[in-house]
Amino acid sequence: MALSRRELLLGTVGLAATGCTSGDQGADAADATPTDATPDATPTDATTTTTTEPEVVLVDAPPYEGDFPFQLGVASGDPDADSVVLWTRLISNVETPTSNLVVAVDVAHDAAFDDLAYSGLVDAPAAYANSVHAIPEGLESNSWYHYRFRAGEHVSATGRTRTLPARGSNPPPLRFGFSSCQNWESGAYSAHRHLADLDLDLFVWLGDYIYEYGPGNNGDVSSAGGRVHDSPEVTTLDGYRQRYGLYKSDPSLQAHHLARPWIVTWDDHEVDNNHAANTTEDGQDTDAFALRRNAGYQAWWEHMPVRMDPPVRGEDFVIYRSIEWGDLVHLHMLDGRQFRTPQPTDGDPVALPGVGNLGVRQLSNDARNPAQSMLGTTQRQWLERQVSTSSAQWNVLGNQVYMHGLNAFPGPVPAINTDTWDGYFGERQNMLDTIGGADANLVVLSGDFHSSSAADIRSDPFDLSGPIMATEFMAPAISSTFPETLRGLAPLVLAVNPQVRHFSPENGFMTSEVTPESWTTRLHTIDDVTNEDSNVAITATFTVESGIAGIAAIR
Ligand SMILES: [Fe+2]
Repeated sequence: MALSRRELLLGTVGLAATGCTSGDQGADAADATPTDATPDATPTDATTTTTTEPEVVLVDAPPYEGDFPFQLGVASGDPDADSVVLWTRLISNVETPTSNLVVAVDVAHDAAFDDLAYSGLVDAPAAYANSVHAIPEGLESNSWYHYRFRAGEHVSATGRTRTLPARGSNPPPLRFGFSSCQNWESGAYSAHRHLADLDLDLFVWLGDYIYEYGPGNNGDVSSAGGRVHDSPEVTTLDGYRQRYGLYKSDPSLQAHHLARPWIVTWDDHEVDNNHAANTTEDGQDTDAFALRRNAGYQAWWEHMPVRMDPPVRGEDFVIYRSIEWGDLVHLHMLDGRQFRTPQPTDGDPVALPGVGNLGVRQLSNDARNPAQSMLGTTQRQWLERQVSTSSAQWNVLGNQVYMHGLNAFPGPVPAINTDTWDGYFGERQNMLDTIGGADANLVVLSGDFHSSSAADIRSDPFDLSGPIMATEFMAPAISSTFPETLRGLAPLVLAVNPQVRHFSPENGFMTSEVTPESWTTRLHTIDDVTNEDSNVAITATFTVESGIAGIAAIR
């Protein structure tokens, strides 16, 4: 279990902002030891209260001078069976933080905080934008909690979070939501508001939490969102921090974070559109882009409730990790950006009628070359090891781009979007032959495409005589829109892609309920992405039967 080995203890010097590690992360992180990455942090006068004590005493809030500091809300994430990451970031009246701060964090069994499970102090270092990653340990497995932060006279909103069922246990069904792509300019976050109201254990975020674009560029052909920011394309640490601040000011997004723990990965827009490792489509100088990428990584870490050390410039930042819902579901969160080889360019460009090229090329020799890698060797070997040694009924990949394959235009050679797994055709084939299978119970979650699908995955998607090796659910975008000009092409494209069993260009999210016998996914679509008060409806339901890869039924 990736997040089971916790090395940060409560009640010593307060919860450090950093220093956690995971025993089952990739090789680069496996031997990492907790480090005090914030040497400038103010030593705290923490109480030694732990959850093993019969009485937990509420600590005094440290002094704080300034306006309400919890304007970006609170969040939780990366739970394991006895702990969870609790996040906030203190926003002071100055844009660039200069002071190390300390806050109190409380965890309770009840919303009134009468029945405390933990109360202590935690650092909010200036070096990390006064962000907080508190990890109270010793919580009960498979349990819900309430949490909050306090600074001076200020008290944050109260969030709800939960721990996971114990490792190896036979847990209750897992109910979780998943989505991706929330371009702030493209639309409102009514999807998050509806998600906040649902009864779900977890939420899985599949990338594009922010978009780096300048104003008026929502990344899509259509633009009807009505929200425009005034900051230019983001390239610096301050810029990324401000962009996260803008997104996190949205009340619906904050409400959804309050509702449950999130498990997040990134895609391209947390740094730059369609980047691959240290190459960028902008043609930016490699060294300059490396600095930009590190700034994006640091700001991501500062704003996400994730259980990992912050990035170190010049070193791999390992964010791929697994979590276990007992022995029912093992979820493996992937990083399809940091370690990938550039998208193949040897295939002839394919122009889509009335639309243009949009990066579509003929499936090529380079794409078929297994050395063309989206995950990189270390991550792929880690994934294959995680799945092949897993005792879970279902293994799930938290993945960015669609794996089911899509021939974008009928012709003798498949026309592929090279940024997706189709551009990494050979690696996909080998990987699915290793970890997939007709009875492997492998389910792939994806996002990125600003539309949704339910699909059968084959090792070669364009050879329908091959066995189905896995099942895919591609979640709709929260707010990023599917280009109007592509909507008209959808019937033509789907006619030549029978592996895609259902497709929708609408915004929204998906939810899944998983039992040992079956997997049910519901597609929730919103009526009007420009309307914060839009209605939502379940517009399709898909089932997968245990032991039989692929979509079993659609209704
Ligand atoms: Fe996106």
